[in-house]
Amino acid sequence: GRVIALVPAAGRGERLGEGIPKAFVTLRGVSMLRLAVDGLIESGVVDRVVVIVPADRIDSVRSELPDGVDVVAGGAERTDSVRAGLAAAEDADLLLVHDAARALTPPPLIARVVAELRAGRDAVVPALPVSDTIKTVDLLGAVTGTPERSELRAVQTPQGFTADLLRRAYAAADSLATDDAGLVERIGGRVRTIVGDPLAFKITTPLDLALARALANDEPI
Ligand code: CTP
Ligand code: MG
Repeated sequence: GRVIALVPAAGRGERLGEGIPKAFVTLRGVSMLRLAVDGLIESGVVDRVVVIVPADRIDSVRSELPDGVDVVAGGAERTDSVRAGLAAAEDADLLLVHDAARALTPPPLIARVVAELRAGRDAVVPALPVSDTIKTVDLLGAVTGTPERSELRAVQTPQGFTADLLRRAYAAADSLATDDAGLVERIGGRVRTIVGDPLAFKITTPLDLALARALANDEPI
């Protein structure tokens, strides 16, 4: 089965606050987008990569990324961007969706997600236990509940799916979701977790960027 990785990289990076779209912020001189794409290629389990970027960056991204990587324009919300990527991945049997913002994801994690799909799972997400206690709150900030922490997991990407299941999930999606597995859950799909990797953390805030740069600067180029 042919594996295509979709890389949503069309976000604005508001929380990072670097003044440019987040995927183009660099770690040791290399954009997060490039690092994420290189990791997918290095995993050895991906046949084709489709990146989804802001429309005005398409040409510059095409020249920055290796030949063979497809580049399409994203949309206002992550769900719109992934949908644009899906339209460019008609020939996939298995699909990965991997945030450019998880630039330091170890390639072996990517290979493990694909191995689970090849073993017959339909939907696979890397997940880690949470260290903070999580509370639900109302609009005024009053606590409405404390879910049992041992049952909670923080999920990462790449998230992997059979192409048919992810397409059906997106066809049914009537609102936005913060992850792709969430849309699969809404159509009754069974989503399986595997053990994630701390290095697959999403670079979201200035503190995350400081950590990512410290980690990247420790690596040989
Ligand atoms: N993304 C996208 N299209 C969007 C929004 C997000 O492709 N309209 C991508 C981002 O580029 C990122 C991934 O989805 O790689 C995860 O999103 P997030 O971490 O929220 O990134 P941003 O939306 O860029 O950040 P923020 O929410 O702080 O603005
Ligand atoms: Mg966002």
